[in-house]
Amino acid sequence: MSQLFAKKPLSMLLSEMEGKGRLKRVLGPVGLTSLGVGAIIGTGIFVLTGVAAHDKTGPALMLSFVVAGLACIFAALCYAEFASMVPVAGSAYTYAYATLGELMAWIIGWDLILEYAVASSTVAHGWSHYFQDFIKIFGVEVPMIFSNAPYDLVDGKFKAMGPWFDLPAVLVTIAITAILVKGIKESTTFNSIMVIIKLAVVMFVIIVGCQYIHPENWTPFAPFGYTGISFFGKPMAGQIGGNGEPLGMLAGASTIFFAYIGFDAVSNQSEEAINPKRDVPIGIIASLILCTVLYIAVSAVLTGMVKYDKINIDAPISDAFGQVGLPWAKYLISLGALTGITSVLLVMMLSQPRIFLAMARDGLVPPAFFSAIHPRFQTPWKSTILIGVCVSLMAGLLPLRILAELVNIGTLFAFVVVCAAVLVMRKTHPEAERPFKVPFVPVVPILGIAICLLLMFSLPAENWVRLIVWLGIGFLIYFGYGIRHSVMNPSAVKYVAPESTDSLAE
Ligand code: ALA
Repeated sequence: MSQLFAKKPLSMLLSEMEGKGRLKRVLGPVGLTSLGVGAIIGTGIFVLTGVAAHDKTGPALMLSFVVAGLACIFAALCYAEFASMVPVAGSAYTYAYATLGELMAWIIGWDLILEYAVASSTVAHGWSHYFQDFIKIFGVEVPMIFSNAPYDLVDGKFKAMGPWFDLPAVLVTIAITAILVKGIKESTTFNSIMVIIKLAVVMFVIIVGCQYIHPENWTPFAPFGYTGISFFGKPMAGQIGGNGEPLGMLAGASTIFFAYIGFDAVSNQSEEAINPKRDVPIGIIASLILCTVLYIAVSAVLTGMVKYDKINIDAPISDAFGQVGLPWAKYLISLGALTGITSVLLVMMLSQPRIFLAMARDGLVPPAFFSAIHPRFQTPWKSTILIGVCVSLMAGLLPLRILAELVNIGTLFAFVVVCAAVLVMRKTHPEAERPFKVPFVPVVPILGIAICLLLMFSLPAENWVRLIVWLGIGFLIYFGYGIRHSVMNPSAVKYVAPESTDSLAE
């Protein structure tokens, strides 16, 4: 019983940072911010804005981005405090281990696996939509049977839609897995190039798009109202949609929250930062603020260019340029979206093995598999391939809507835990060195927890069921394996880390 609540001492975490089997420190503040932006701007802004504006918010989408951005900024400040205190791989998992005990750490680690793996599948789906749109320029079309997931949710029920599976989504996942197994040296350069291209395209959308704004499109500003809250699927405030889901500005915020996911991936790279205590907080906060400003601007432009009920839900931004008579811009944007989404996929799939690596070092998952480093490529190849297989199966077979909502609930949960962990740590270790401190404690973490819970409750109830089922599977694994092999279990046989110290982010 005591092991369930055993906390990994801060001193143990700090001394582990000096130990062998560590990753090489090569990332500076620009590299970390670029990784953050690489992980953030993607499917959310290029795809989900369409569904949110069309079905849930209208032009009030801009405010949805403000609300979701606020939740993320509060959580990001908490991530930054932890990342500066314990700059090791594992992110929220490691922070929970130090503050809330092993069981909570396991829950959050298992939840992060859900976040990254399912986010990668969602992103691969978004990539496929834009890819199919893009190749139409050359008159090429993916055969219908390979163009999408076989099922979708219609009126709350699964319905066969005709396709067999989403082939482009599967292929892009396999390609990224191969790049990640081969090595990261090429991938960080590749990531920086992709980040520059996607920022250029986003700036293009804002600068050119604002010349095509018709302010009358912003009226009515909030056709579905400003609320849209439900509690475990029971509508509490606002209009109700056809599937019984809440509509309105807040409901839109919980959908487009997805667009912000990824800044936490920066904290996974802490172990590879040259000066993590200073640069990881900079990377997390700078990338998030930059993206928040860009998102609000893009949503203002999009809803100003096209009346909300005419916004395309599959490729909203490129379609808006088509609608105002700039078809060439449409192709440029599709290309930018494709590039941007590829970098999100790359960083998400790069982060996942690091969570496993941290859990494997603690003995909670089999280290021989999850911390195995390839002798030649120096990458965690086994877990990368395992993740690649799972992500491509989900991306090929499950509908976008289900995947996106599942990621949101998992991530919001992680944010709640990290905000709570800051409060606990301030009480239990008031003396610990905190190179970066969350301002206005306890107000900021409490507001972070409150907004994240509000957004969690606004997601359809099935998501809670799926989250609970996922955590249930996690409990089986923890009680079947983790608890007996944990480093906190005195009778466990300790695993000796391999000698490699090469960076995954070199
Ligand atoms: N924030 C990332 C995206 O929008 C997950 O694609």
